[in-house]
Amino acid sequence: MSNVERIEDEARARIAAAATLEALEEARVALLGKQGSVSALMKTLGAMDPEERREKAPAIQGLRQTVSDALSARKAELEEAALETRLASETIDLTLPAPQAPQGSVHPVSQVMDELAEIFADLGFSVATGPEIEDDWYNFTALNMPESHPARAMHDTFYFPDQAPKGGRMLLRTHTSPVQVRTMLEAAKVEGSAPVRIIAPGRVYRSDSDATHTPMFHQVEGLVVDRDIHMGHLKWTLETFLKAFFEKDDIVLRLRPSYFPFTEPSVEVDVGFALESGPDGKSRRVLGGSGDAPGHGWMELLGSGMVNRRVLEFAGLDPDEWQGFAFGVGVDRLAMLKYGMDDLRAFFDGDVRWLAHYGFSAFDQPTLSGGVGAAS
Ligand code: PHE
Repeated sequence: MSNVERIEDEARARIAAAATLEALEEARVALLGKQGSVSALMKTLGAMDPEERREKAPAIQGLRQTVSDALSARKAELEEAALETRLASETIDLTLPAPQAPQGSVHPVSQVMDELAEIFADLGFSVATGPEIEDDWYNFTALNMPESHPARAMHDTFYFPDQAPKGGRMLLRTHTSPVQVRTMLEAAKVEGSAPVRIIAPGRVYRSDSDATHTPMFHQVEGLVVDRDIHMGHLKWTLETFLKAFFEKDDIVLRLRPSYFPFTEPSVEVDVGFALESGPDGKSRRVLGGSGDAPGHGWMELLGSGMVNRRVLEFAGLDPDEWQGFAFGVGVDRLAMLKYGMDDLRAFFDGDVRWLAHYGFSAFDQPTLSGGVGAAS
């Protein structure tokens, strides 16, 4: 028997004897590995003279191919057998509950905006939007804040280097009030003008950052323009809105004279709250009742007033024919008060644990109540 035949017989026996994939791998190394017997035989080719090599090479190379094919065939057999064993032994319990798919949740800011849209829709308001990158004219000038007006300084504005089409520079809007102007300009185009009843929720930006201020936050602006509109309409609307939002009937408002360039007269609106001690012993503010009652206080909630005549004129409306009221309130602040969060910055950290705690199921109705406002 030649050397080649002997090695082939040995190889076949060894491969056939391999009962597991691990044993087969050992056989492969022993045959075709660097130190393997077939490899050793291949190496002898190099030492032969050309004549001899020509004669013996086909058999030796053929052997390598045969062994390699035998290894593959055995491997397929063993894999097949392993699969058969698994199929025979493993079972699937179809009665087990399916693993829970991770569920997203609605951010409290989105939830509150939806609640506001619902509440105001009932009062006949629609939702208006405007750009966050705003023209100086819409953000300030048309709101009766000409250049060098001191109220501009209070807004800590982020400016762009770009010139704005209507003068000044482009900026990140510092409040949602420019939507007032844009909406009134649209309304003024309509023959005889149209009453305006909108809320404008959205992101606003100011260069300010601490526990109660973030450089980006959310406001909702309300605007009504019609004939014979007066402060009574403003107060009723705010009262109705806040009672619906906090889901409490004894919300008491206090209107305090204030100043905004775009409203005249202007009022700051406070709501009464009671200090109550919670189950954890900490005292907390519960909205409701007059702030003047013993153990109660007033908290500032929003700014509002009658739309300044000059703003109506800027928007192309005749102030002798049309009057309006406007208000602006922080959406994040409303969410904190209703649902009891204490740090504004956490709203925008993007921490899913916070969202799991405070977020809302996508299937929740937007008027579901909870938090501070609901406790009484
Ligand atoms: N735009 C004001 C602010 O951001 C709020 C406001 C709106 C006040 C409408 C009065 C009327 O400070």
